[in-house]
Amino acid sequence: MKSTKIYRGTIVYAPQLGALECLEHAYLVAESSVIAGVFQELPGKYQDAALEDFGDCLLIPSFTDLHLHAPQYAMMGMGFDLPLLEWLNTYTFKEEARFADAGFARTVYEALATELVRRGTTRVCMFSSLHREGTLILMDALERAGITGFVGKVNMDRNSPDCLRETCEESLAQTRRWLDECDGRYAHIKPILTPRFTPSCSDALMEGLGRLAEEYELPVQSHLSENDAEIEWVRTLHPDCEQYWETYAKFGLWKRGTIMAHCVHSDVRERAAMRSAGVWVAHSPDSNTNLYSGVAPVRKMLNERLSVALASDVAGGAKLSMLHAAAEAIRASKLRYYYSGKRPDEAYLTVPEAFYLATSAGQQYFGSGPGFCVGDSLHAIVLDDSALPPSRPLAPAERLERLIYADDSRTIRAVISEGRRLV
Ligand code: GUN
Ligand code: FE
Repeated sequence: MKSTKIYRGTIVYAPQLGALECLEHAYLVAESSVIAGVFQELPGKYQDAALEDFGDCLLIPSFTDLHLHAPQYAMMGMGFDLPLLEWLNTYTFKEEARFADAGFARTVYEALATELVRRGTTRVCMFSSLHREGTLILMDALERAGITGFVGKVNMDRNSPDCLRETCEESLAQTRRWLDECDGRYAHIKPILTPRFTPSCSDALMEGLGRLAEEYELPVQSHLSENDAEIEWVRTLHPDCEQYWETYAKFGLWKRGTIMAHCVHSDVRERAAMRSAGVWVAHSPDSNTNLYSGVAPVRKMLNERLSVALASDVAGGAKLSMLHAAAEAIRASKLRYYYSGKRPDEAYLTVPEAFYLATSAGQQYFGSGPGFCVGDSLHAIVLDDSALPPSRPLAPAERLERLIYADDSRTIRAVISEGRRLV
């Protein structure tokens, strides 16, 4: 027997980049957690099904976060007077080393999973630390909390302190063991291979991971062209590669579904390599500003039809909230536009575009269509703007804009992940 659930509210979603579909006081129907349709008038066959009426609230797709670091959750908002490489060495690596302690990992990861849900993020691509046990604890916590997506045990065998470095052999053996331990253990969380970034991984490790990606048919996530000093360093580590991306391509890690975080300094050639391989960009504007890495050329990426989705990059990003990430994406793009001399090919992101990048774009990484497509698993949140200052009557698009800029957790009233009500 299919269980039918009906949610009523003002439904808003982004069917394509720049477009908003708004249906006031409409119906979202799910059958056995799968979307059966969005209707302005409820079809007769659903008249007797269970209905939850959210009144004037907005009903939108829940957020996707294509890139964040779970073991950096407890150091959000720290060390940003330093650029990337100094921040990693001074703060981040030491913090991640603490996740050798399973008890500490459990405490932080449970808090993270709870807060992600509270912030309306139900699908993630996440870095763990290099610790195998800690990574399983993270996956357990996410699964229990009702979050879905990909988690990677990080691989790193060079250029970090002893407390956060594996040998190449250990790294590959622990990754294999982790993959075997994941097998059949989770309904909603899947593994993804995670070489931290080229400076952290020897050629032998990258080669081993490339073989694992093929053998286990796994997706890959890493970092690319985030910071000037990082890019220069990669050039000295791989003098045979013309560009950073080739250091991944050389080992079979540059392929359809690979996610590269940042890509702030990816030029037209590097972007063309992404487009032709089907590599995704995890755009992390808050982090790129905090660590003053730069402003990514998102408009160019979108014009070139790259797959781009929004990410918090916690703890380069200082907040888990994807409402905040969307506002930061707009702000950063406006500064880039201004300093370009207002060139049309650097046009800033609009609110509907940022909303698309925080929802529909990422949904497509997880195999769903944009917005609320029939046949896709239901991921949705309910936004209640009654806690915001009283206003004149607003159109749904205006209400969405105000909610994005307000970035107020009190406005997130309900969260549904794979049809399951979490909040
Ligand atoms: N590059 C390699 N590791 C990291 C990380 O943890 N955060 C960010 N922002 N960039 C990285
Ligand atoms: Fe990152």
